[in-house]
Amino acid sequence: MKQQIQFPDGQTVLNLGQGTWRLGEDTSKHNQEITALRSGIDRGLTLIDTAEMYGEGQSEKLVGEAISTYNREDLFLVSKVYPHHAGKSDIFDACDRTLERLGIETLDLYLLHWRGRVPLQETVDCFEELKRQGKIKNWGVSNFDLEDMQELLALEGGENCQTNQVLYHLASRGTEVVLQDYLKEKGIPMMAYCPVIGQEPDLKERVYNDSTVKKIADAHEISIIQLLLAFVMQQDNVIAIPKASSEEHVQLNADVLDVTLPEEELNQLDAAFPVPDHRVPLSIQ
Ligand SMILES: NC(=O)c1ccc[n+]([C@@H]2O[C@H](COP(=O)([O-])OP(=O)(O)OC[C@H]3O[C@@H](n4cnc5c(N)ncnc54)[C@H](OP(=O)(O)O)[C@@H]3O)[C@@H](O)[C@H]2O)c1
Repeated sequence: MKQQIQFPDGQTVLNLGQGTWRLGEDTSKHNQEITALRSGIDRGLTLIDTAEMYGEGQSEKLVGEAISTYNREDLFLVSKVYPHHAGKSDIFDACDRTLERLGIETLDLYLLHWRGRVPLQETVDCFEELKRQGKIKNWGVSNFDLEDMQELLALEGGENCQTNQVLYHLASRGTEVVLQDYLKEKGIPMMAYCPVIGQEPDLKERVYNDSTVKKIADAHEISIIQLLLAFVMQQDNVIAIPKASSEEHVQLNADVLDVTLPEEELNQLDAAFPVPDHRVPLSIQ
């Protein structure tokens, strides 16, 4: 389901973007991956999520090449800083390297990839300085559970956080217990990574063999992966960032913008893959 999601600073994006973990690592797939990313941009998937960690910069380089033929203002580029680079002695150089690999002057969002040893206030101060320098438009975090978010938002400047990128899919709904409500209350969109269960083969297998999932996918004449994506895209305040390395997969994912699951099917999915009845630790990949 197509939705526009608004960040606290007023910028809006489509609820479907493109992930890039593992893209750019295999040179034999270079052309195919460039074509995949461009075909997504052409279908409106202009939010691209990358990180300095992905292939140690190779993913950012690939994204840089893919976007080089587009107008910068038509794209929404997100990258992430390693926790050990998120202090004042490293972050400015790390950000410059990211911008150089992407071939751009400003990132739309710069995220702290996960919490490390650098004090959060120091990272927030650096993000704010990067904003003043025009290197980033804004910033956010990733893999933050409720208490991390509460601590962040209580810091000076912490209220400027624009997103929290976390693992979320039909078979991993722990964030629905408290975190998603908290983010919604604060007006902070959640970015859902691994929306089609890319990193948990056993869990994926279980979902694939589930009769409710099969029945609903068949009823819409879509694949199970598309149904998984449709489920995430139907949530309020959530942006899905599936990674697809072929044009065919990107197009199938973009087709999900036109899929709406009726209440009754959502209820059936809830019964098959319930939200936990108590808090569980945030899943991390
Ligand atoms: N912040 C974090 O800590 C964190 C952690 C993990 C991921 N992420 C971000 O989130 C993105 C998505 O997560 P992910 O890549 O781990 O997992 P994912 O998007 O759930 O799954 C990716 C897998 O799904 C396949 N796929 C995608 N669309 C498909 C389709 N229509 N039909 C069949 N297969 C399809 C891909 O295959 P092909 O490649 O063959 O197309 C790939 O094997 C990452 O790329 C990254 O940008 C962030």
